[in-house]
Amino acid sequence: MMKAERGAIRSWILHGCDRVEGAVRVPGDKSISHRSLSLGAMAHGLTEVHGFLRSQDCLATLEALRALGTEIVESPDGRIRIAGKGPEALREPGAVLDAGNSGTTLRLLAGLLAARPFFSVLSGDASLRNRPMRRVVEPLTAMGATLLGRSAGQYPPLAVQGRELSGITWDSPVASAQVKSAILLAALQARGATRVTEPSPSRDHTERMLQAFGVTVAREGTTVSVTGPARLQGTTVSVPGDLSSAAFFLVAAAARPGAELLIREVGVNPTRGGLLGILEAMGAAVAQERGRNEAGEPVADVRVRGGQLRGTTVGGELIPHLLDEIPALAVAAALADGETVISGAAELRVKEVDRLSALAGELVKLGVRLTEEPDGLHIQGGAQLKGAVVSSRGDHRMAMSLAIAGLFADGQTQVQDVGCVETSFPGFARLLAEVAPGCGIHEVADAG
Ligand code: S3P
Repeated sequence: MMKAERGAIRSWILHGCDRVEGAVRVPGDKSISHRSLSLGAMAHGLTEVHGFLRSQDCLATLEALRALGTEIVESPDGRIRIAGKGPEALREPGAVLDAGNSGTTLRLLAGLLAARPFFSVLSGDASLRNRPMRRVVEPLTAMGATLLGRSAGQYPPLAVQGRELSGITWDSPVASAQVKSAILLAALQARGATRVTEPSPSRDHTERMLQAFGVTVAREGTTVSVTGPARLQGTTVSVPGDLSSAAFFLVAAAARPGAELLIREVGVNPTRGGLLGILEAMGAAVAQERGRNEAGEPVADVRVRGGQLRGTTVGGELIPHLLDEIPALAVAAALADGETVISGAAELRVKEVDRLSALAGELVKLGVRLTEEPDGLHIQGGAQLKGAVVSSRGDHRMAMSLAIAGLFADGQTQVQDVGCVETSFPGFARLLAEVAPGCGIHEVADAG
C-alpha cells in the first residue's frame, strides 16, 4: 500500500465484506502524546515517553517545542526523550509555530506561552485557522497575557506576548479539555491559585499527567485547581492505545452479528469511554480484560462481539465523553434497527470540519436516512447501505468512519481525500485490511 502524504489527494477503494475478526493494537493516544511533550518540556529533568503517537498532529507539537529550544530526541524504537530544563529555558521562536491541523497543539501551546516573557505566533492550516480561539484568548488575557488573533482574537494566527500571570477563577462556557488544559498550563507558571470550572467534565488527561509529574491538582465536581508557580519533575509516560482510533474497529465489529475483535492495550479513561457503554446499550457485547493502571491512566484490552444493534439516544453530559467518536457512532446508528437521536453535540461544528454537516452530507450518499439538527443528528437505521463515492472533506475521523460504513455497503465505496488520516492514525488502512481482509482496501490517487 502506498503511503499517503498530507496534502496529497488520495482515495481508499474498498468493498463490503462479511468478516471482521482478530486482535489488533491501535497507535498511541493522541491527547496523551501531546501532553507528554508539553509537560516534559516544562519539567525539570528527563521525561521518557513510550508508545508516543507519531502522527502529524503530535509531530506539530514536537517541532514547535523544538523551535522553542527544547531538546527532544526520538530513538529508533519509537521512544521519545525530552530534556526538560523548566519553562524558563524556553526561548522566543524565530518563526511562526505551525500547528498544522491540530487544535490541541495550538490551544495548549497558547497556554504554555502565555507566561513566557517573549513573542510568539501560532498558526496552522486552513481548517485550524477557522477554529474558535476566543475560548482560550479570554482566560489567558484575564491572567495577564496579551493575545491577538483575527476577528478580535477568534481565529489564528494568534500572536502571544507572554507576561507574568496571576491565577484566576474561570467558568468555561464549553466542556473542552483543550480550553481547560491551556488554562492549566498557564496556571502552573502563574502566581497563586487558578480554578477552572466546566459545564460538564471533559477528558482529564492533563490533570492525571500533572500528578505523575509531581504537581498537586485539586478536583471537586467539575472544578480543577492548581497553585502556581509549580515545579514539574520529569517522569516516564506510557501512552496507551487511542480509544478514539479503536472506535472505528469497535464499530466495525459491534455492528456485525458473529464478529469478534480484541483491541489490545487501549486507554479506557472514563472521560473518554462513552462509546463503549453506548455500543453495549445498542446490543453489542463489550468487555474490558486485563485492566490496569499506567501512569495514572486506566488501560485494558477491549473485546467486542457484534450483534444486531438497536437505535439509541445520546446527549447531555455523555457528549464530551464520546465527542470524537460520534462520526463512528453515526455509522453504527445507520446499521441499527430503529432511530438514533444525537443531541447536545453542537461542538462538532467547530472540529476539523463541521462534522454534523459532513456526516449528513456524506452518509446520505451511502443510502443512510438522516436529518441534521442544529446540535445533532437523527439517524434512521436499518437501510441497506450502497457503495458510493464519498469524501472525508479533509477530516480524518470522517475518512475512517466512511471506510467502516463501506464495509457494510453493497458493492464498492471510494472514500476521497484520505491523506488527512495521517494527522491521527498512520497505518489505519493497513490495520483495516488485517481485520477485514475481504474488503480489499487499497489506496489510489484521486482522479481529477
Ligand atoms: C482534545 C480535546 C477535545 C477533542 C480533541 C482532543 C484534547 O477537543 O475533541 O480531539 O486533546 O484535549 P475540545 O477540547 O475542543 O473539546
